[in-house]
Amino acid sequence: MSRISLVVDGNRYVAEITDSALLLDVLREQAGATGVREGCGVGACGACTVLVDGVSVSSCLALAERYDGARITTASGLPADDEVVESFVECGATQCGYCIPGFVMMAHELLTENPEPDKEDVVRHLDGNICRCGTYAEIRRAVLAAAEKRRAR
Ligand code: FES
Ligand code: FES
Repeated sequence: MSRISLVVDGNRYVAEITDSALLLDVLREQAGATGVREGCGVGACGACTVLVDGVSVSSCLALAERYDGARITTASGLPADDEVVESFVECGATQCGYCIPGFVMMAHELLTENPEPDKEDVVRHLDGNICRCGTYAEIRRAVLAAAEKRRAR
């Protein structure tokens, strides 16, 4: 066992980990970030996406020991008036909701990199995320709406 320190959604945690511990499990089980979801577990669905220093990472593939000292943002830590979350709700982008935290984090990454994305930019950026309920059209609309909201605020 070893110890790592993480800042998760603004709060510092010291986690006890084994060499093979995955960031996904440390975030859910030790930092209480249950908005980080396990879908495929093999890097193919995007449900487990978090931002590490603003960059998207599939936490199901990430060895926790490599993230000592990292600042991590998860969907669990977003404020109630987050533009992306609001837009997902308003656009009806959520059915079962399981995939949504991953899409929301990818949308945040996109809007930071490109505050005025067009539909193709959104499609390209979200290409690695899977929604089994198939709300892709609503999700795309929500990301474009969130970009507009951000610009207006
Ligand atoms: S659970 Fe990590 S990519 Fe699917
Ligand atoms: S809303 Fe159900 S998997 Fe995406």
